[in-house]
Order: sequence, then structure tokens, then C-alpha cells
Amino acid sequence: MTGLAIGGLRIVPPLVLAPMAGICDRYFRLTIRRLGGAGLVSMEFISSEAVTRGVKPILDKMVFAQEERPLAIQIYGKDPQRMADCAALVEEMRADVCDINMGCPANKVLKGCSGAALMGDLPRAAKIIEACRKVLSIPLTVKFRLGLGKGSDPVNYMELGRICQDLGVDAVTLHGRTARQMYTGVSDWDQIRALKQAIDIPVIGNGDVKRPEDAVEMIDRTSCDGVMIGRASLKDPWIFRKAAALLAGQPVPEVTSGERKDLMLAHFRWIIRDEDPRTALHKIRSFAGRYTKGLAGARKLRQAIGSINDPNEFLPAIEEHFAAGPGSE
Ligand SMILES: Cc1cc2nc3c(=O)[nH]c(=O)nc-3n(C[C@H](O)[C@H](O)[C@H](O)COP(=O)(O)O)c2cc1C
Repeated sequence: MTGLAIGGLRIVPPLVLAPMAGICDRYFRLTIRRLGGAGLVSMEFISSEAVTRGVKPILDKMVFAQEERPLAIQIYGKDPQRMADCAALVEEMRADVCDINMGCPANKVLKGCSGAALMGDLPRAAKIIEACRKVLSIPLTVKFRLGLGKGSDPVNYMELGRICQDLGVDAVTLHGRTARQMYTGVSDWDQIRALKQAIDIPVIGNGDVKRPEDAVEMIDRTSCDGVMIGRASLKDPWIFRKAAALLAGQPVPEVTSGERKDLMLAHFRWIIRDEDPRTALHKIRSFAGRYTKGLAGARKLRQAIGSINDPNEFLPAIEEHFAAGPGSE
């Protein structure tokens, strides 16, 4: 199997759960971790502004379990000093990797001159990387896109990749779209290949790995050192386990309907245990919609889940659905 080393940290298998805001909370990370196959899991992005102002709900988000390791905490912001202070906290919390977001295309983040906006201001991006590198002894990574997709330098990932390398970043992740594209079009894997050829630090490829086979194909086509998977893991949280099997030359393991039931029950039990009823309701509904995509009888289960207003009723509804068997649609 191909290898990914981020600084002194070996990521085995070389498959990474992408940071996804509103998704990669501790329950989802733990769910993915327990299914196996992910070499590294990422936290949803954390605002350095909020952290350095001591905003408690954001600080609470940074808490993680030992079982999640290795884990990357991703931070974003525009101010080098605040970013460095936030990175220092990431290290203090003993995360395995500190990742800097330079790819978020959301308007709110762009207007704050962070995320992908930093690709339009490489001197500032460099200052941030330098400041974070100075305070970190744990591995530092940077995640970015092809470029802003507009202005005088629409595609400048190569330049940013070289800056990262020169400033001692341990690995970079490239999502092969511009910020302007958001999630339209396709991730251009040829650019991932070009970056891999141009720099010596590890490159993690990202974008449009939809099936386990795509992870193998991305490595074959780009020679990237690792593969990051985001959206596909919502519909198929086993994608890491399946891709890991393929990379090891083994057959793809089947997922039984019993395993799917157990996954939903375990994930939702954590949510019900820890969250207030309103948040639990919201989280369970959104994850149930994703987890049941393609499942026999899914429409009926989604309807049942949609009409529930007490989080405690979810678990019996799921048990009942699976007990009725796949012919229940
Ligand atoms: C709901 C959602 C939230 C995301 N949040 C983040 C984030 O917090 N930080 C980040 O770097 N990328 C974020 N992304 C982008 C993903 O990490 C990834 O780069 C992108 O989805 C492409 O990979 P995929 O095709 O495997 O999904 C997010 C994507 C989605 C769909």
C-alpha cells in the first residue's frame, strides 16, 4: 500500500476524512473511526477569531476523544497573530496535526479575508503559515483550492504549494476546483498531479472521490501521497474501509443492513445522550437523510423520522424499520 507521512506521523492507510463544517463533529468522526479505513480524521473548521476571544461553544467543539486519533484540527482566520495563538492551543490540546484552511469558498469566510481569500493575498497567507509554523512542533498542513478563479491570478495553487514547502509545511491538500466553482464542475485531478510533480512535500488529493475505486484511481492518475474524502462518506461511511481494502489488493467488504442499522443507532445514541433535544432533532434528521440514501425502504423511514419530534423516539423507529426487513417500502 502507498504511504503517507505528515512530518513524523505515518498515516495508514493514506485516506483522510475531509473537514466538513456542520458534519465532522465528534460523533461523525468517531463513527468513521470505528468503521475503520480512515488513516486520519479532520475536525470541522475552527475560527481562530472565536478561539482567541474565548468563545465557549467553539472551544467545546475542539474537544476530542483519544479513540479519534490521529486527528487534525483545522483552523481559519486572517490575522497571523490570532492564527498562531490558535495553533498554539491546537498543540496544547495534543491534536496530531494542525491544518490551515485556505480553501473555503463560503462568502462569509471570504468576506472575512480568510479561507480561499488568502489565495488572493499570498503575502498574508505566507505570514500566517510562518507564524503558525513558529509556534508548532506538531505537523502543520495547509488545505487549498486551485485558486480564486477570478482576478489577475485565477489559478495559483502552484505558487501557494511552493510557499508552503519553503515555510516548512509538512503536507498540503489540494481540492481541484477554484473557489469560484464552489462545488460545480469537476475536481481537476491533472492539477493535483502537476502539484505533486512540482513540490517535494506530500500532496493529498481531494475532490470527487465518490466510490472506493476512485481513491485508487486518484492515486494512480496523480501519484498523490494520500486521498481526502468528504461528501461520499456521508452516504457511505464505509468508503474508507472499502478503499483501504482495494489499496491492499483485497476484495471490497460488503456492508449488511444490520451494520447500517448499528451505525445509525450508535451515532444517534451519542447525539441523544449529549445534545439538547432541539439540536439532537436537527442533527439526527440531517444524518438520517444521508445515511439512508439508497437503502431499501428509505423513503418510508425518512418519512417516519421526519414526523418525530422527540429524539428518544428515533431509536425505536429505526429498530422497527430494520426489523420489518427491506421489503417494507
Ligand atoms: C458540508 C461541507 C462542509 C465543508 N466544510 C469544510 C471545512 O470546514 N473546511 C474545509 O477545508 N473544507 C470544507 N469542505 C470541503 C471539503 O473538505 C472537500 O474539500 C470538498 O467537499 C471536496 O471533497 P469531496 O468531493 O470528497 O466532497 C466542506 C464541504 C462540505 C460539503
